[in-house]
Amino acid sequence: MKKIGTDVQKAAGLLNAGKLVGLPTETVYGLAANALNREAVMSIFTAKKRPAFDPLIVHVHDAGEMEKYAYVDEFTRRLAARFCPGPVTFILAKKPVVPDEVTSGLATVGLRVPRHPIALELLCKLKFPLAAPSANLFGTTSPGTARDVEESLGEAVSFVLDGGACEVGVESTIIKLVDGEIEVLRLGGLALEEIEEAAGKKVQRVKTSSSRPEAPGMLHKHYNPGIAVRMVDFDGDLSEFEHKRIAVISFRTRTLETPVVANEALSKSGDVREAARNLFGALRRAGKSGADVILTELLPEEGLGRAVNDRLRRAAVE
Ligand code: TXA
Ligand code: MG
Repeated sequence: MKKIGTDVQKAAGLLNAGKLVGLPTETVYGLAANALNREAVMSIFTAKKRPAFDPLIVHVHDAGEMEKYAYVDEFTRRLAARFCPGPVTFILAKKPVVPDEVTSGLATVGLRVPRHPIALELLCKLKFPLAAPSANLFGTTSPGTARDVEESLGEAVSFVLDGGACEVGVESTIIKLVDGEIEVLRLGGLALEEIEEAAGKKVQRVKTSSSRPEAPGMLHKHYNPGIAVRMVDFDGDLSEFEHKRIAVISFRTRTLETPVVANEALSKSGDVREAARNLFGALRRAGKSGADVILTELLPEEGLGRAVNDRLRRAAVE
């Protein structure tokens, strides 16, 4: 059977039968199953080798659909009207119809409307929403193409819908409203500045990674490309890496005095959106380049630069 294809009807058939399907979204590829089918949901955790304490995001085809699965407040309705479909996930009090397997027993559920036309076409064909984490083995980089999914998950996924390269490149921004205040549980494809502008107020807290995170997937160490990642100042002293095989991932272009085995610029023009789109591919290529270590640097802390920096920092945790 051909593993990668564009047959949406075939994907729908597999999902109806409780199987897993690789799903293109605007952020990264997901590994999708019927969110209302407990066994199908559990097989996602097995395929990804994902710990059961890390809940899944549920994907629906429009903002109104969210009301079937969660109690939606006025504020969320307003933000959803503005940003859905798009790279944002809302954490809301769940309705009983959502199985505990999806939410890892939490009283809340993460809901999002993906912007990719193929994902929307598929969701419209189905009578259930799709639980879908990023389609990679737990702790590794998120996939940006159908081929990345196949490489990461192999036999564990029977079919990957090919929707081309993901337009955003980093996962959705996860937000939660607590006592009228906005908390960001994961920086992502929707910039904080845009949320603040639409909400008419500041984001109160950005709870990024920790060892006991509120978004259980936000563990310190994540996005492991297979070799060490070190955050450096490329203008500073790099002599400690003299005898290493080096891969460079820079924001704009960097040329080192010593030869390197790979050199990736995330955005030659210095565009943080382009950098986000290129990030995981650059990490994967550098990880496979034969280098001993990836040297990288932070982007400006603005727009999607924040989400890129969050991923780079967590890839660099030793
Ligand atoms: O862009 C995305 O969000 C992609 C695409 C496929 O939609 N999905 C994705 O899923 O990144 P995943 O499973 O790799 O990351 C989901 C994150 C995890 O950190 C998880 O802990 C958090 O969402 N999460 C899910 N439900 C939650 C909940 N009820 N409360 C807090 N965090 C939650
Ligand atoms: Mg993930």
